[in-house]
Amino acid sequence: MGEKREARIYDRVAWRYDLLETPMEKMLFSRLRRELLAGVHGRVLEVGVGTGKNLPYYPPGVELTGIDISPRMLERARRRAENLGIEVDLEVMDVEDLPFEDRTFDFIVVTFVFCSTSDPVKGLRELGRVLKDDGTILMLEHVRSENRVLGKLMDWFNPLIRWMFGPNINRRTVENVEKAGLEVVSVENKGPKILKKVVVRRVAG
Ligand SMILES: C[S@@+](CC[C@H](N)C(=O)[O-])C[C@H]1O[C@@H](n2cnc3c(N)ncnc32)[C@H](O)[C@@H]1O
Repeated sequence: MGEKREARIYDRVAWRYDLLETPMEKMLFSRLRRELLAGVHGRVLEVGVGTGKNLPYYPPGVELTGIDISPRMLERARRRAENLGIEVDLEVMDVEDLPFEDRTFDFIVVTFVFCSTSDPVKGLRELGRVLKDDGTILMLEHVRSENRVLGKLMDWFNPLIRWMFGPNINRRTVENVEKAGLEVVSVENKGPKILKKVVVRRVAG
C-alpha cells in the first residue's frame, strides 16, 4: 500500500501541509469544517483524515475512526488528537480497499480527498458499502468547473498541476458519486463555485 503514488506524495508534503493550507484555512476552510461536522453523531469514519484538520470540530461523543493512505500525514493527525485530548482510532488504509464490514458507519466524512485518490469511483463504492442504510456521507471537495471555458482550462492544466503538486483539479466528483451507485441528496456551492458541499446517501431499496 505504501507504494501507491498518493502515499508517496502525501508522505513527502506532510511536514509542510498545514503551513501551505494556513491562508485558506483561516479565510474559509475552518468555518466550512465546523459547519460540516456540527450534526455528526454515532459511529463515524473520516476518510483521508490527513493531518487531522477536522478533529477539533467533531461534536463530543462520536465514535471516530480516521484513515489515510499516508503514514506521515497520520503521524501528524495522531499528534493533533493527543494535543486536543480526543479519542480516535487512526489507521493507515486505502479508501479503495476498506477492511470494515458492510453497513458499519452512521456518518462518513470526506474533505478534499477525492481530488487525490487514483480511482475515485472505486473509493466511493467502498464508502457506499460500509455506510449504514440510513447513514450519510458528508463531503467537501473542489471539483471541475461547470463553466465551459474554465472547465477546459482545468483539463489542460491538470497534468501540470498533478505533476507539480499531486492532486487533480478537474475531478467530476458529483458525477462520480452517481457512477458509484449512490444518491446525491444535495450539492451546495461554498464560496467559489468549484468548492462544493455534497451530501450523499445509499440509494433506497
Ligand atoms: C488534500 S489532503 C486532505 C486532508 C484532510 N482531509 C483535510 O481536509 O485537510 C488528501 C488526503 O487524502 C489522502 N489520500 C489520498 N489517497 C487516499 C486513498 N486512496 N486512501 C486514503 N487516503 C487517501 C492523502 O494521503 C491526504 O492525506
